[in-house]
Amino acid sequence: MSATGGRPSANAALHEGAVDPDPLVQMQRWLDDAYAASVIEPTAMCVSTAGEDGQPSSRIVLARGMTSRGPVFYTSYLSRKGRELARNPRVAAAFYWPELERQVRMTGIAERLSDEDSDAYFATRPRGHQLSAWASEQSEAVADRDILDQRVEDYAARFEGEPVPRPHSWGGFLIVAERVEFWQGCANRMHDRLEYAREGAAWRLRRLQP
Ligand SMILES: Cc1cc2nc3c(=O)[nH]c(=O)nc-3n(C[C@H](O)[C@H](O)[C@H](O)COP(=O)(O)O)c2cc1C
Repeated sequence: MSATGGRPSANAALHEGAVDPDPLVQMQRWLDDAYAASVIEPTAMCVSTAGEDGQPSSRIVLARGMTSRGPVFYTSYLSRKGRELARNPRVAAAFYWPELERQVRMTGIAERLSDEDSDAYFATRPRGHQLSAWASEQSEAVADRDILDQRVEDYAARFEGEPVPRPHSWGGFLIVAERVEFWQGCANRMHDRLEYAREGAAWRLRRLQP
């Protein structure tokens, strides 16, 4: 840890002239900084979806890639978030890197990845994770843990000696970012906030009050 207790120095302040004109490039820079600062789970993001009644719900997922349009995460399409996104693809996400006093939040539209892309990612997962994806009906109630453990064993037997295929109900979402805000903690709570909003093919940048 540095003499400043791991806190960013004053030159970590966010300047309009120093950030990339593309927020997804800037996002990758901050992600790289989070890795360099040994943040635990730097790709963890809080994803919020809304139900039919407008009720939001949030959960942490891991961003498994940062594309030029936004982050990608993987989940069950039949989970609560999967079902909510199928009906209403408007989504919000937030990253927090406490060691760097940084937050990124974004809003956008969730798009399902192609089957080919989800297959390719699923194939890279450890076998145990793949079997769990088959065994868990994510977000559904279950009477006890034993039922789940038994299902894992059943699928292990079913796929013995062969690659585990991706369940059709499991795959990726790309969050196509429309608004991205970078927040840098500063002294005396006079924090820096720079917000990008998509305007056609370009991004408009403005400073928000802390
Ligand atoms: C650090 C962390 C990482 C997680 N990563 C994922 C993930 O990548 N995909 C996922 O479906 N759930 C992930 N989860 C579990 C979710 O937070 C959540 O419990 C689950 O997806 C069910 O959410 P839902 O019922 O709202 O759909 C993660 C949880 C934590 C704490």
